[in-house]
Amino acid sequence: MGQGSMGMGSELNVVFTQDNPGHWQSLMQLHVPNVSVSGDQLSVVTPHPMSEAHYIVSHTVVLENGQFLDRRTFSWQDQPASKHTLPAGYSGKVIVTSTCNQHDFWVKTITI
Ligand SMILES: [Fe+2]
Repeated sequence: MGQGSMGMGSELNVVFTQDNPGHWQSLMQLHVPNVSVSGDQLSVVTPHPMSEAHYIVSHTVVLENGQFLDRRTFSWQDQPASKHTLPAGYSGKVIVTSTCNQHDFWVKTITI
């Protein structure tokens, strides 16, 4: 196979997704961020409980071609939800990450 599939293999248990949850498979549904778009507003919610011992640390949003858009950091007393303003008229990929302090780095990609 080509280099692309080798790249995915090298990310096993490093970068987690719905389709590639690695050793956290049983915890996947709590960690994949839900992403929705309304107009220029991107909403991200991670369906994960928040406690001092175990919480979502941050969300980041990156656009097509690696263009950084925004980052939000959470404390355990926050809700793991964030809103971000897209560039006017944006269409293309949006890559959203959600990081858990115990269960690593999760990525959800949508195309708008
Ligand atoms: Fe977690």
